Amino acid sequence: MKIETVESATRPQRIAPHSHVKGLGIGDDGKALPVGAGLVGQDQAREAASIVVDLIKAKKMAGRAVLFAGPPGTGKTALALAISSELGPKVPFCPMVGSEVYSAEVKPTEVLMENFRRAIGLRIKEIKEVYEGEVTELTPEETEDTLGGYGKTISHVIIGLKTRKGTKQLRLDPTIYESLQKEKVEVGDVIYIEANTGAVKRVGRSDTFATEFDLEAEEYVPVPSGDVHKKKEIIQDVTLHDLDMANARPQGGQDIVSVMGTLMKPKKTEITEKLRKEINKVVNKYIDQGVAELVPGVLFIDEVHMLNLECFTYLNRALESTLSPIVIFATNRGHCTIRGTEIQSPHGIPLDLLDRIMIIKLTPYGTEDMQQILKIRAEIEGIPIDDDSLSQLAILGTKTTLRYVVQLLTPSFLLAKINGRESVSTTEIEEINELFMDAKTSAKVLMAQTDKFLK
Ligand SMILES: Nc1ncnc2c1ncn2[C@@H]1O[C@H](COP(=O)(O)OP(=O)(O)OP(=O)(O)O)[C@@H](O)[C@H]1O
Ligand SMILES: [Mg+2]
Repeated sequence: MKIETVESATRPQRIAPHSHVKGLGIGDDGKALPVGAGLVGQDQAREAASIVVDLIKAKKMAGRAVLFAGPPGTGKTALALAISSELGPKVPFCPMVGSEVYSAEVKPTEVLMENFRRAIGLRIKEIKEVYEGEVTELTPEETEDTLGGYGKTISHVIIGLKTRKGTKQLRLDPTIYESLQKEKVEVGDVIYIEANTGAVKRVGRSDTFATEFDLEAEEYVPVPSGDVHKKKEIIQDVTLHDLDMANARPQGGQDIVSVMGTLMKPKKTEITEKLRKEINKVVNKYIDQGVAELVPGVLFIDEVHMLNLECFTYLNRALESTLSPIVIFATNRGHCTIRGTEIQSPHGIPLDLLDRIMIIKLTPYGTEDMQQILKIRAEIEGIPIDDDSLSQLAILGTKTTLRYVVQLLTPSFLLAKINGRESVSTTEIEEINELFMDAKTSAKVLMAQTDKFLK
């Protein structure tokens, strides 16, 4: 093993605005912790969000919608992401921004539909006939190319598989050799091969090969027990969109299972309404038979006021359908016109849709909460800053927005370095506030100097 690989493992992560949010930070009593999982304050909204999480987990939430409403920088996006991490990676979470629906190529409702289907998961349980074990031998047998020339073709592959009960040697079709190479299977790996389809899955490396230094990103698994040739329950998590994609390819079969192996092949083909109906039919059949289980996930539409009337009408209808995810909206708008109309409505959302939404209100932060959030952000971004400066920033934040002051952290640290300091002090905060402007101040300046700008 090379030493260089060790270094790269500790490479600092790119800092995203919500990287400190790890969950909702709710205590055992169902109350929000003062500071928990990266979140500060906003107790009621967090508790409400936690109830939503419980509803989703209990599968009582499908077809309903939640709206996070509040002024800019009150943590709407942060809370939605916290819900996603509370739900865990097995529940699909599809984030989008309202304006994403306006693309030159497809209709807005088509984009919405696609994202709806990305947010609906299907857990498929299948009992399959497999060959499973640790690879003890992997030899492709070659023959002279029948067409002449220099090339050799592989006539078949010999694989030795070992379990704790015994070993077996298989003589397999050359097509499997390709799948073996794709999965990068080597001697010492634990794999299984589906008997019907010949699909190869690498489970991990056999733990008899586990080294003391587990610096490699390698998963060690025990040598399987039982026979090499057996029936095994295989669980796959896919979304309806995955199924659409897999079946949109020309040669796509009718059977979902046959198509599983072909997932994730990047090839853009059109998904038609007819195909979706077809897939829904098969999915419903599978659910009835108990082969598959529906996992309604979350579709998060940020800046929902960017959607137009057509989209809202679509949403109304889509929420009623049997295959519907949980929809979470967020907006920072108050009363405004609905896009594409002259109608004024709260949050720019038509009243009939608003009527079926549970609204979670977020309120602006006080200085204390703001200071605490700034402290967490400063730690995450690795910025040394004293308490005085933090409280000064927090005061500035109450006059502007939280996001604005969070954004000032890094520039003020750069300024501190220029000033020859190790950490951010109040001088830098004052200086940086002179250099940049927040949205509200900028708007004021524009109003005052309208005659000086071009129109
Ligand atoms: N309660 C909180 N605890 C910790 N961090 C927070 C909290 N609320 C917001 N933040 C952080 O503050 C920043 C701004 O919040 P966020 O982007 O969620 O605001 P928003 O309500 O979505 O605003 P907008 O309406 O402008 O989209 C983000 O970096 C977010 O992670
Ligand atoms: Mg936001």
